This record gives sequence, C-alpha cells and structure tokens, in this order.
Amino acid sequence: MQHHTMLEVISRRAIEERVAALGRQISQDYTGGDLVLMAVLGGAFVFAADLCRSITIDCCIDFVRVASYGAGTASTGSIRLVQAPALEVSGRDILVVEDIVDTGLTLQWLLQYFHQQKAGSVRLCTLVDKKERRQVPLEADYVGFTLNHGFLVGYSLDFAERYRNLPAIYTLQDAAS
Ligand code: PRP
Repeated sequence: MQHHTMLEVISRRAIEERVAALGRQISQDYTGGDLVLMAVLGGAFVFAADLCRSITIDCCIDFVRVASYGAGTASTGSIRLVQAPALEVSGRDILVVEDIVDTGLTLQWLLQYFHQQKAGSVRLCTLVDKKERRQVPLEADYVGFTLNHGFLVGYSLDFAERYRNLPAIYTLQDAAS
C-alpha cells in the first residue's frame, strides 16, 4: 500500500473548537424549529457525529448518500441519490451536513432535492469550504474552515477511502488537488 507524505493543516484542537462554535450557533438559530441534521455519507460521518453532540436543542439526525455518474475523482455534475432520507422531510428544517464543498455541484443538487421534497427550510453546514474549483455560485450557511489548496484528508475526508479515521486534517503532499 502506498504511503503518503502529509502536512497537518487543521489540528484536532482547532476542529474541536470550531465544531463547538458551530453547534452553539446552530442551537441558537434553530431554537423553536424542527431541526433535522442531514449528514451526507460517507464523508460527513465524523463531523456530523461531533456536531450533533455540540448542539443543545432538540433535533433529529438522518443520512443520505449521493453518487456522481462518471469516472474520475472530480464531480461530473450528474448526481443521483443512492440512499434517501429515512425521516419525513416535508415542512421540517433540513440542515445538510457535509465535510467539504468543492465544485459545489453535489450540494447544489442536494439542496434542490430537499426544496423539491418541500422542506420547511434548507441550509448547508460544511466543515470545509474549498472555493478554488467552485463551478456554481453556492454559499454554505455555516462554514467550519475555508481552505483553498491541497488534497485534504482526515476527519473523514478520504483518499481512495483511506485516512478517514485521522483526527486532524492534512494535505497530501504527493497528490493532485
Ligand atoms: C465529497 C463531499 C461532497 C462532494 C463535494 O464527497 O463529501 O459530497 O465530494 O464535491 P463537489 O462540491 O465537487 O460536488 P466524495 O464524492 O468525495 O464522497 P465521500 O463523501 O464518500 O467522501
């Protein structure tokens, strides 16, 4: 198995502090609402697990999984839902939880999907907002960190399904971004 050289770009401590702050903000903003955290698998599972425990208001948690048609690592813009929400979406406050927004194509499609499902509100919380390859004008409502360069791994961000278990975020020094 190939081993990669990594550089830490966001420490475990910095992630903890930022996730706690996001949880406080979300708790404040959704007080009195009907919040459903909608985590996008597989990349958001670690972030969602930590974020939900920093939220102090009543909420539900659900999961979706999407896939892009086409080969390669870059999004093609042709998205399909391979795991639909288990919970009722209609009329509820859907907060999509993602690990990273890159081109924006996946999230543009997913946010539209929840609007079509007649959610009461639809917002996006992403741990990392990576804007250098953005293809659509998508702005997340809650952003952990803005990072523009590098192939990021760790804290459930993967390289060929590896490194999701690392507790901090790193850039691979020997992979294309
Ligand atoms: C990542 C991330 C988003 C998507 C964002 O998932 O979790 O779903 O890419 O990219 P985009 O803005 O260019 O559309 P990935 O396809 O790597 O799968 P994973 O969640 O299983 O890691």
